[in-house]
Amino acid sequence: MKKMCVDINLIGLGTVGRGVYELITNKNKEINEKTGLEIGIYGVCEKNKKILKEINISQNIKIIDIKSASKRCDIVVELIGGLDTAYDIVSNALNNKKYVVTANKALLAERGEELFDLAFKNDVEIRYEASVAGGIPILKSIREGLIANDITEIYGIINGTTNYILTRMEKEEMDFDKALKLAQNNGFAEADPSLDINGIDSAHKAVLLGGLVYQSIIPFNDVYIEGISNITLQDIKYAFEMGFRVKLIATIKRIVDKIDIRVHPALVPINHPLSNIPDEYNGIFLKGDAVSEQLYYGKGAGRYPAASAVVADVVDLAKKIVYREKLPKNIKKRYIKKAVFAVDDIYCSYFLKFITLDRPLVLAKISRILGINDVSIASVIQKEVNNPKGVPIVILTHKANERRVKEALKEIDKLSIIKAKSSLIRILE
Ligand code: HSE
Repeated sequence: MKKMCVDINLIGLGTVGRGVYELITNKNKEINEKTGLEIGIYGVCEKNKKILKEINISQNIKIIDIKSASKRCDIVVELIGGLDTAYDIVSNALNNKKYVVTANKALLAERGEELFDLAFKNDVEIRYEASVAGGIPILKSIREGLIANDITEIYGIINGTTNYILTRMEKEEMDFDKALKLAQNNGFAEADPSLDINGIDSAHKAVLLGGLVYQSIIPFNDVYIEGISNITLQDIKYAFEMGFRVKLIATIKRIVDKIDIRVHPALVPINHPLSNIPDEYNGIFLKGDAVSEQLYYGKGAGRYPAASAVVADVVDLAKKIVYREKLPKNIKKRYIKKAVFAVDDIYCSYFLKFITLDRPLVLAKISRILGINDVSIASVIQKEVNNPKGVPIVILTHKANERRVKEALKEIDKLSIIKAKSSLIRILE
């Protein structure tokens, strides 16, 4: 009879680790009834003694140190985050032929190439569902459910913290700092919230999504990343009036042999499903040649959504371990390095904001420079009047080339009527 019992070592009992501990402890019977598998926790590793006390770890479970992370288990679950120690834990586990589950998007986006290679050499696997879009099983859907599809594009909201902040700003006319505090108190934000706000967390996730969708290695440093820290309540209000919501969007598209991959705030039309994804929820929209359009929606951050994804990975790998399934050797070379399409080469519509003196010929001067750069105006709003510090003029453009738009803004900012640096927000098509 097969050994149906698989043991994990759980490394890190922070927000997600604690959720995993609870789910595995409380749902063991249900998982066993559904799969026939017994998932056991051999050891837990947590340097914060207070957390260990709070959780009241069962006496059957060993308290282990990082050096023993790979010992006496089948799967190492790395949930400490960060790069260096996490790298040591994961690489050591793989070298010891242990399967690995992690929620560490930074580690895989930045050092994934070596770690996936190491896994392959050692005939084991790394699973990382929790690292992209929390509780939404998007990686499993791409890997399994959509296997018969060529996915031409995939884009969406993949950071809960920034979506929460933007939602609070719009709904409650709250300022950015207050909304960020709320997000942190709710456990959505990364330990260093600048990773969320500056778009880096989304970019890590985008690299992992793009890597899987296009079977490629995407150099993280080539991804265009712009966060939400320059988005003001005023931008959000103007956008809404013009029929849009501001969202932090990650876009991944194949353009011939390159990948157009970028993270930046975007104006999303109110009638687009992504515009209605609120709070810490994530939404991912994709187009597959067989399935057509699909939308994935769910909680992208927080203890239990992420823990749910980790436990699903553990159960998937446990099945492989029990049934001795190995990756076929001939699929190793499918992941090749792909070049990134430069953001300056894209064409899209833009929301442009100018802070200018309220004088005759101002619009004529701005529109002349836009026109010279092949940027055609679709609509204009000016609401305030006569403020010596300048008044905002917002222009929506038709599709234009980003390089030309930036050249136009540079030129416009040299005009004496312009009182602050002009800004752009891309519009989601
Ligand atoms: N800080 C992340 C977010 C947590 O806000 O989406 C999940 O990766």
